[in-house]
Amino acid sequence: MIRISTIQDLQQEIASLRSRGGKIGFVPTMGALHEGHLSLVEACIQKGDHCVASIFVNPTQFNDPNDLRNYPRNPQRDCELLERSGCHVVFMPSEAEMYPEPDTRKFEFGEMGSVMEGKHRPGHFNGVAQIVTKLFDAVQADRAYFGQKDFQQLAIIKTLVAELHYPLEIVGCPIIREPDGLAMSSRNQLLSEEHRKAAPIIYQCLQEVQSRVGTCPVVEIEQYIESTINNHPLLNLEYFQIVERNTLRQVSTIIPENPLNACIAVFAGKVRLIDNVEIIL
Ligand code: PAF
Repeated sequence: MIRISTIQDLQQEIASLRSRGGKIGFVPTMGALHEGHLSLVEACIQKGDHCVASIFVNPTQFNDPNDLRNYPRNPQRDCELLERSGCHVVFMPSEAEMYPEPDTRKFEFGEMGSVMEGKHRPGHFNGVAQIVTKLFDAVQADRAYFGQKDFQQLAIIKTLVAELHYPLEIVGCPIIREPDGLAMSSRNQLLSEEHRKAAPIIYQCLQEVQSRVGTCPVVEIEQYIESTINNHPLLNLEYFQIVERNTLRQVSTIIPENPLNACIAVFAGKVRLIDNVEIIL
């Protein structure tokens, strides 16, 4: 695996990979890698793409400076994991490389960007759009791989790529879970032992949503989630919504033809965890 830190070197290496034939697959990450990230690398390699991963903790997508400061970083271990997974190139730029000038671009995602994560993390998706467009421009991949855990991010990136006419296929990959159901996330390593024990309740709630959908009104499901999470002494609900999969519009009644996801954000102490499930009707 080749380690690269400048856009110029990256583009040279990608040109050389392209000259050998085959497609370029891109796995953007902020490091602190876990099996979820590695499943994206695996999906990329299984498609037969040359796999280019990036590790960059993007400051512009953090609306909370403490969250940015505490975000786990372990580049040495990340590189070992990527190498073992068969990744070909890892791009680890400095902040100055990605932002030689402050990025003043403003991206507009309409309603899709103003609900859920967009509502609770103002500016977050603008920062995501800033960095992914810079990375897409640098890598010029044929396909980019994103996890479905960040369900809203995936929807927004698909919209962005369509609107900006990037010749890039966005591949969404399934959530990878711990044996107790907790969705894998770099933030899980920040959980205290007791919060880690409580965290699987989040997925248990989503499974309960699945079993209740169709048998009781949405409002009752919302009340059930709110009371289950908030009655737990270590957890705090930020939001729970059942939304249309494609528009992210919140629904108050279930229409069987309408593909839906149930999305949740919960604070386990100071650590914010998100999860979602596709609702099967
Ligand atoms: O999902 C992430 O890890 C980040 O939001 C991404 C897409 C790498 C952009 O910084």
